[in-house]
Amino acid sequence: MRLLSLLAVATGLCLLPSPGALLSQVEARRSTGFPQQVALDTSPDQVEFDDLFETAGRHGTIRPKRPIPRACAAAPAEPGDRRSNVNELTIGNFNAEWLFLFGGTGGMVCPGFGCPWKNRKMAAEHIFKVAETITAMGQPDIIHMSEVEGCETLGKLIQILEVKHGAVPGAYKPYLIPGRDTALGQQVGLITKVDPQQDVFRTDDRTIYPVAGSRCGYTRPGAPSRLTGSTKNYFAVFKVNDVRMLVAGTHMIAYPDKPERCEKREAQATVLADTIRAHLAENPSDQVIVLGDFNDYDDEVLDAAGVIDTPISQALALLRGSTSPPLFNLAKTWLNQTERYTNWYDRNGDCKDGGGDEHVLIDHVLVSDGLKNRLVSSAPIHSYNEFCGTTDSDHWPIVAKFDVKRG
Ligand SMILES: *[C@@H]1O[C@H](CO)[C@@H](O)[C@H](O)[C@H]1NC(C)=O
Repeated sequence: MRLLSLLAVATGLCLLPSPGALLSQVEARRSTGFPQQVALDTSPDQVEFDDLFETAGRHGTIRPKRPIPRACAAAPAEPGDRRSNVNELTIGNFNAEWLFLFGGTGGMVCPGFGCPWKNRKMAAEHIFKVAETITAMGQPDIIHMSEVEGCETLGKLIQILEVKHGAVPGAYKPYLIPGRDTALGQQVGLITKVDPQQDVFRTDDRTIYPVAGSRCGYTRPGAPSRLTGSTKNYFAVFKVNDVRMLVAGTHMIAYPDKPERCEKREAQATVLADTIRAHLAENPSDQVIVLGDFNDYDDEVLDAAGVIDTPISQALALLRGSTSPPLFNLAKTWLNQTERYTNWYDRNGDCKDGGGDEHVLIDHVLVSDGLKNRLVSSAPIHSYNEFCGTTDSDHWPIVAKFDVKRG
C-alpha cells in the first residue's frame, strides 16, 4: 500500500480517477460542447472566425440537446444557372472530412472529443482549408461533398469562398437532405451554381443482403438474410443547357477490406442503382453521374497502391450496371497510375504519407455514356500533403470538365 502510494506520487497519479469519473468527464465535455481555451485574439482570421460562430454565441452552450437536422432541398420555382462559362460544366467530388462547426446532429459531437477537430479553432482552420482546396479545384460549378454537418455549415463554406477566394456572391447555393447516419451525424450534400430542376430527394429503401452473386463471404449459406439501405445519399436533377442529368451523391459504408462491410456496401450500391433505374424508367433520356466516397476500389481501375486494392465487393460493378451502356469511371482517363488516389491510408501507422500502397482510390465519379462523350478533362487534385494532425481533409478531391455547348 505504502509502496503503491509512493509510486503514485512519483508518477503524479495521486488522483487516479475511477473509470466512472473518467466517463463523466467525457460526458461533461460533451454536454458543454467545447473546451473554451480558444485564443481568439491570436487568430489570423479574427473577423471571419467570429463570423463563423455568430449564431452559436462565444461562451454559450453550442449543443444543449441533440438537434434535428435541417434540409435545404427545395428547388427554386425558377432554377437559376450562375456558371461563369456557359459552354462548360465543371463537377467536383470531395470528402471534406468532418466539415462540422456547430457540434453536429448525431451521437458524436464535433468539434469535440471524438472527431479530428477537438475545438472550434481547429474546426475553423479546417473549413478555411476546405475553401482553399475548393479554390485549387477551380471552384467547380457543382461540388458533391461527403462528411458534411448540414446546410448551415455549407452556407459558412460558401461565405468563406466569397469573402476570401473571390467566388461571385450568391453564385453558390447549398443543397442537402438529411440522412440516417445517427451515430456520426454526417451528411452528404452539395454546393452548386446550378439549381436543381426539382426538389433534391433521397432514398430510404432497403434491400435484402447478401445480394445475389455476393462473394464477400461473411454470411454463411443458409443463414437468415438481413435488410439494409443507404444512410447517406441524395439525388438531384439538373438541366445544363440541353443536358439533363441525375446526380446521385453518396457516402458508402467504410472499410473496403472487411467482409461484413462488403455485404452492406453491396446492398447500399443495389439500393442506389435501383433508384437510378427507377428514375431512368420515367426519364429515359437523362444522363447520370454517381459520385462520392464509395469506400471501395474499382475492379476495373488499378490505383496507385496496385493489386493490393483489388475490391472484395461488387459495389462498383453494381453501380456501373445501373445504366446501359454501363457508367464510366473517370479515373480510367488518368493515365499515370501513381496519381490514381484520393485518400491516404496510413497502412503502417507511422503518421507519414509513405505514398505507394498508402495512396488509395476510394472516391469516384461515374458518368453515363452521354457525359463520357462530353468529357473534356478530369483529374484528382493533390494540392496538399497528408500527415497526422493536419487540418486538411484525409481525402483529395476529383474534378471534371464537360463540354455542354448546345447543338
Ligand atoms: C506520374 O506521377 C508521379 C507522381 O506525381 C510522377 O513522379 C511521375 O513523373 C509521373 N510519371 C509520368 C510518366 O508522368
